[in-house]
Amino acid sequence: MEFQHKIEVMLTKEEIAAKVKEMGAQITRDYQGKPVVLISVLKGSFIFMSDLVRAIDLPIHLDFISAKSYTGTTSGGVVNVKMDTELDIKDKHVLLVEDILDTGRTLNVLKETLISKGAKEVKIAAFLDKPSRRVINIRADYSCYTIEDRFVVGYGLDYDEDYRNLDFVGEVIL
Ligand code: IMP
Ligand code: MG
Repeated sequence: MEFQHKIEVMLTKEEIAAKVKEMGAQITRDYQGKPVVLISVLKGSFIFMSDLVRAIDLPIHLDFISAKSYTGTTSGGVVNVKMDTELDIKDKHVLLVEDILDTGRTLNVLKETLISKGAKEVKIAAFLDKPSRRVINIRADYSCYTIEDRFVVGYGLDYDEDYRNLDFVGEVIL
């Protein structure tokens, strides 16, 4: 593929696959006997979600939610729920599945939204975690990788909608 930007490989598809399998195994251990609904935060987590659900050996349900807070590489700060969940999550154990936990604004709003719908518990499974960028006190219950403050793309993550379909994670060199 010809790229418009220089993309430096940060995580290969083999590394990613191994980490996602590990997370799936951990979730399988932690959610024995608990009815869990995994909610994928669109669009960025769609690839991670599809790999993660297949790495979980439990009878799960899944749903989707969509929020937006970003334009380019700068956070807009405002988060809107653009598409809401379909399933009734009352009294359910909810696991929010996100591509990357950055400032924390998105997941904070989504967590509150799901709690207000009566979820018994809402936990977070983030593929990537960038703790140095946090402006809200929120943490990932599960994460595959903690990364530095770099703008990354691929495996679902975009730069103005480009690069979501890369099967690796790379840093955009601007
Ligand atoms: P937060 O609300 O600031 O935590 O932002 C979360 C959203 O910002 C993620 O779901 C991504 O869509 C986007 N985002 C944050 N950092 C990156 C990055 O390095 N690459 C691509 N998207 C990012
Ligand atoms: Mg995005």
